[in-house]
Amino acid sequence: MQELLKLSGIYKSFEGVRALKGVNITINKGEIHGLVGENGSGKSTLIKIISGFIQPDSGKIFFDGKEVSRLAAGETTSWGVQVIYQDLSLFPNLTVAENIAYNEMLEKRTAFTDWKEIERIARNAMAKIKIDIDLHRLTEELPIGTQQLVAICRALTSDIRLLILDEPTASLTKKDINNLLSVMKDLQSKGIAILFVSHKLNEIFDVAENITILRDGMSVGTFPSKSLTNDSLVELMTGKALNQTRMARQTNSSKVILEVRHFSKKNNFKDISFSLKAGEILGIIGLIGSGRTELACAIYGIAPPDSGELFIHGRPVKIRNVRDAVKEGIAYVPENRLVEGLIQKQSVMDNLNAAIIKSLSHGGYVPYQRRLDHASQWIDRLNIKVAHPLVAVQTLSGGNQQKVVLGKCLSTKPSVLILDSPTVGIDIMAKASIHEMIRNLAAQGIAVILISDEIPEITHNCDRILLMHAGKIRAELDASTIQASDLERMMAQY
Ligand SMILES: Nc1ncnc2c1ncn2[C@@H]1O[C@H](COP(=O)(O)OP(=O)(O)OP(=O)(O)O)[C@@H](O)[C@H]1O
Ligand SMILES: [Mg+2]
Repeated sequence: MQELLKLSGIYKSFEGVRALKGVNITINKGEIHGLVGENGSGKSTLIKIISGFIQPDSGKIFFDGKEVSRLAAGETTSWGVQVIYQDLSLFPNLTVAENIAYNEMLEKRTAFTDWKEIERIARNAMAKIKIDIDLHRLTEELPIGTQQLVAICRALTSDIRLLILDEPTASLTKKDINNLLSVMKDLQSKGIAILFVSHKLNEIFDVAENITILRDGMSVGTFPSKSLTNDSLVELMTGKALNQTRMARQTNSSKVILEVRHFSKKNNFKDISFSLKAGEILGIIGLIGSGRTELACAIYGIAPPDSGELFIHGRPVKIRNVRDAVKEGIAYVPENRLVEGLIQKQSVMDNLNAAIIKSLSHGGYVPYQRRLDHASQWIDRLNIKVAHPLVAVQTLSGGNQQKVVLGKCLSTKPSVLILDSPTVGIDIMAKASIHEMIRNLAAQGIAVILISDEIPEITHNCDRILLMHAGKIRAELDASTIQASDLERMMAQY
């Protein structure tokens, strides 16, 4: 195979944080290359260097066999390198056609009112991956999986040789993931090389021929994926063997903490009733669009239901807003954590303390040491990779930002904890420790609602499972007896 891009001995520091310490990677022409590593291991930093978005401190770079002194943003595009970042960088209030044609129009300096040209560019790009999206829809109205395809189409408007995808599947449903993986294989068959980052190792094994592993800013190596197993890959990533035994769950409590009766909200969900006991972990499984997140938002007061009743400790309560919910001891970890859960410019410490600052307070004043101790304790417990608790949360890697939101919510000691897809974008080791933490919280008597579309996450951790589809509960299942394969089959029915 011929080399397309080679980086060797790449170093990069940010204000004293050494993000990359001698990284090597070679991407061959027309291959799908997986890039894996724990949260904060340097994957996104390496990608930003390849795209020319940031410059390395040192190291050599070869493109198409020739050494290049540096990768500059405009130059890499002209070589045919396109990056799709995790946030997709689409314009939500532009149409599909405008988004797809945007770069090309900029480059050609064509007027943005030349609708015929905009549509032609968009149609061409869509034809390349054989998809058909309504060109006149606003991008923000599309499901995230479709937005992902729009971002890919935009990358395909120019002659492309290397497509880089930084965690493209993190918030996609299974169907959208399969669709995306087959689009990737299709592009590869056209000779396009793809660099693909994911924490879902099965996807990496599915499509990648070679896998480069980063650990703590260093290259562990590049391996043919055929030479690796899931376990050996995890061991190379973490230096530890993964122990994924299912903990025996015991919930003998009969104390009902939360009861939802006949919750309905137009266009979202209908006639939802269930109860939740102290120490119980109730799984709600259902695809994006099943009404699961809307139900959580209703219980938490973000968007109250049109009708229905809520009881806490047997007492009828009215939750009209988030403040009411917090007062009743309900905590919620939203799915869209990076937007809803963090103040990016503030320190990791302030974000971790944000929800409990009152309880740390001594007559309105919270001693610095106490704030620092509390934050440091959560940094340790969740293994958050950060140089110091005082750095701004925006400098953390994606997965480590997720952990800060979790820490913030978990530290409130709620009586009901609602977690919406808590481990999306979190690496495999941290995931196992978050699962363990959730089970420990339940063991302390907290009632937990765990929303996810990841079947093993639900079957490994829950006591009882509600299957949601199109706004209704379709089945209630006992998690101790259900097989993952049965659950998968039931979900596929809808
Ligand atoms: N602008 C920055 N300022 C300071 N530190 C930074 C900056 N960008 C990245 N880092 C640090 O560099 C390290 C690597 O981060 P990077 O985002 O590359 O990790 P990652 O492998 O992509 O992780 P994840 O799986 O969580 O996305 C982290 O310790 C991060 O905090
Ligand atoms: Mg990243």
